Amino acid sequence: MSKEFETKILCIGAGYVGGPTMAVIAEKCPNIRVCVVDINKTRIDAWNSDNLPIYEPGLDEVVKIARGRNLFFSTEIDKEITVADIIFVSVNTPTKEYGIGAGKASDLQYWEKTARAIAAASNANKIIVEKSTLPVRTAEAMERVLNSNEKGLHFEVLSNPEFLAEGTAIDDLHNPDRVLIGSMETESGIAARDKLVGVYANWVKREKIITSNVWSAELSKLVANAFLAQRISSINAVSQLCEKTFADVQEISKAIGADTRIGAKFLNSSVGFGGSCFKKDVLNLVYIAESNGLSEVAEYWEWVVKMNEHQQNRFVKNIIRALFNTIAGKKIAMFGFAFKKDTGDTRETPALHVAQQLAQEQAKITISDPKAIDNAKIDLAGINGISYEIDPYKAAQDAHAIAILTEWDLYKTLDYAKIYKSMVKPAMIFDGRNILDHQKLYKIGFNVYRIGKTPLLHSETALI
Ligand SMILES: NC(=O)c1ccc[n+]([C@@H]2O[C@H](COP(=O)([O-])OP(=O)(O)OC[C@H]3O[C@@H](n4cnc5c(N)ncnc54)[C@H](O)[C@@H]3O)[C@@H](O)[C@H]2O)c1
Repeated sequence: MSKEFETKILCIGAGYVGGPTMAVIAEKCPNIRVCVVDINKTRIDAWNSDNLPIYEPGLDEVVKIARGRNLFFSTEIDKEITVADIIFVSVNTPTKEYGIGAGKASDLQYWEKTARAIAAASNANKIIVEKSTLPVRTAEAMERVLNSNEKGLHFEVLSNPEFLAEGTAIDDLHNPDRVLIGSMETESGIAARDKLVGVYANWVKREKIITSNVWSAELSKLVANAFLAQRISSINAVSQLCEKTFADVQEISKAIGADTRIGAKFLNSSVGFGGSCFKKDVLNLVYIAESNGLSEVAEYWEWVVKMNEHQQNRFVKNIIRALFNTIAGKKIAMFGFAFKKDTGDTRETPALHVAQQLAQEQAKITISDPKAIDNAKIDLAGINGISYEIDPYKAAQDAHAIAILTEWDLYKTLDYAKIYKSMVKPAMIFDGRNILDHQKLYKIGFNVYRIGKTPLLHSETALI
């Protein structure tokens, strides 16, 4: 197998990170053989089909270029470990749900199982790359697990956290702000690091490849997500104040974002952040701080998550209050279920929390989303009063209210006059992403509730 390839890379874990990351490495490095393995056969079969297991703009094209040439997807984990020179580990590291640290710490069982599988199937030295997001000092534990083999083999552990964002993963991988590679500061650590730098240097400018010690690389990933989540919680905290004071959160974002010390990104106020990473990574940071006896540090970061939960609860309470304090039996159309646009991923989506709470109040909910309906059905299985409709016009028919939960571009250009006509009056719209033309909606006849702005209400029908 593969004698013609200069290097053989294996990635364990074919998820939202492993799949796209390896597809781009294969695309950009035709001399490297890249194989992605997973214990989930259905996922691997999908990677080998025309219907990839995740939706990501540009991913199909990249996979088409490299698959079968130097990119392979397989379930033969042991066989692929044996032939690989560099092994990325990109398995899931969810929040631990049991025992010590439950609800905050990272569950490392998948990582450790992978390390043991690598040690068992290897018969030569290898470089192991932490691609998963991990607590700081995981590399130490992993080195111990790996290097306790009785075959005299040496495994060099690097940390190369992934900073891609779902929805823009391919663009982020093609043009990263930076690539971070952490290594032990030993001769073999630096040699391994240089080898990985060489892989990325095939398409990333050298000055964008940052090297550091392995602990800084591990912790940087948690800190990056904590800072990003913190910006959203900060602007959301301000949004509530705006609603009380007639200030406008979007005007504030523009005014403060123009300050180059603050910067314009991640200042959109909304129903809250979601996704598989922010909450779990901030809570992991909280747990690490607590474990080190730093209770004030832990509490500081924990408020980022609490503010996010508050924002979601507030959104639901506003809907109930505006619909005359009872939503039992009323139809509410939810536009969007994915945690953000351009992905079908629904992990930790605010829409789930909103749907669950509305269902508890016995509303009839119709969920519409261009890519996430399959996942929504899994997330909401067993909850009464929920239906699914891909066509937003049909979803809104006979509804009392529309709630925008995901900022899909298509929702900006719908014919809201037509939608208004088909709804129960007074018709309400709750723009949880502040993406619609609110004045236009108001003129059509809607009562318009937005985030961080005074609602636009036809006073004879409205409750504030
Ligand atoms: N999703 C993101 O946007 C993102 C971004 C940056 C970093 N990360 C981090 O990357 C890691 C992976 O995230 P993801 O979103 O790709 O997760 P995912 O759940 O989509 O994928 C993980 C895959 O690993 C597989 N797996 C688990 N144990 C295995 C084993 N022992 N052997 C083989 N395969 C195994 C699972 O079957 C699954 O397909 C996490 O640590 C996450 O925090 C995620």
